[in-house]
Amino acid sequence: MPARLFLSSGDLMADRRFEFARDLQLKGDLPAAADLLLQAIELAPDFASAWFTLGGIREELGEHEGAIAAFERAQACDPGDRHGAGLRLMRLGAAPLAGMSQAYVQTLFDQYAPRFESSLVDDLGYRGPELLFRAVLSVRSAARKPAFFKRAIDLGCGTGLAALAFAKGVDHFVGVDLSPRMIERARATGLYAELDVADMLQGLRSRPDASAELILAADAMVYVAELGPVVTEAARVLTGGGLFAFTTETHDGDGVVIGEGLRYAHAAAYVGAAVEAAGLKLALLEDRSARNEDNAPVPGLVVVATKA
Ligand SMILES: C[S@@+](CC[C@H](N)C(=O)[O-])C[C@H]1O[C@@H](n2cnc3c(N)ncnc32)[C@H](O)[C@@H]1O
Repeated sequence: MPARLFLSSGDLMADRRFEFARDLQLKGDLPAAADLLLQAIELAPDFASAWFTLGGIREELGEHEGAIAAFERAQACDPGDRHGAGLRLMRLGAAPLAGMSQAYVQTLFDQYAPRFESSLVDDLGYRGPELLFRAVLSVRSAARKPAFFKRAIDLGCGTGLAALAFAKGVDHFVGVDLSPRMIERARATGLYAELDVADMLQGLRSRPDASAELILAADAMVYVAELGPVVTEAARVLTGGGLFAFTTETHDGDGVVIGEGLRYAHAAAYVGAAVEAAGLKLALLEDRSARNEDNAPVPGLVVVATKA
């Protein structure tokens, strides 16, 4: 995972106490770390990183209400919520399920970019692009059509792993990602004709009707709570006969939940309903895991929806 985000309080003493608290936290002395964080907060009451870290420690200590209070303060101190305190509040049941803050996703992946491929591919056995490639091939071969596409859009393109998997079958690749650092890496691959630093929904909205034959989202819909708006916009942008292929994480219950990895998990029935509501046809929906966590596959889906 990326290094922990630190936003200075602007007060040297408070920042030092925060650093000591982090050392104690890493050594496992959580009560002493919490105590030092409170001292830092006394010096700098709007110290978002200290509040956020305190929330995590209180959560570990089983102090549910205290954790909620600290995460609420972390969120209030940084309106963009770069730490993702809102997500923690959702997971603790203290806030209704909603979208992630864009500043959080951007900060997370800007920090992650230099180590993204080694961490995801080598450490977590990431296989999202390969799953999408095989799924698209199987849908195209069932329809007796070649897996060749003039224009494709890669939503949440990251460093460009999906474009690499599809490179031989796509003429013109457009990549969209919230993180400028991930986009820099994608640009360096030379695989994309166009790259947009944008939220995927905004990126799709800026595209004309019927202008792409293939839309991909490899391990990106896990950062989107409500699939409907993105699937609907993808349906508008696809040409007749076009494909929207994506992976997501899943769970056995209903609707959408936040998983242990702080990503959304979408139930299979929820995904199917979002695809149908957008006027697309579900051509493939299979249980396939795109990555491991704690050496076990994270339950996931690979989905291909087609436009008539
Ligand atoms: C786990 S990475 C996967 C990257 C790439 N698709 C791959 O397969 O290697 C998720 C990417 O989605 C991007 N992302 C998450 N939410 C997004 C959103 N709402 N709009 C655009 N990009 C988003 C992140 O910045 C990150 O680069």
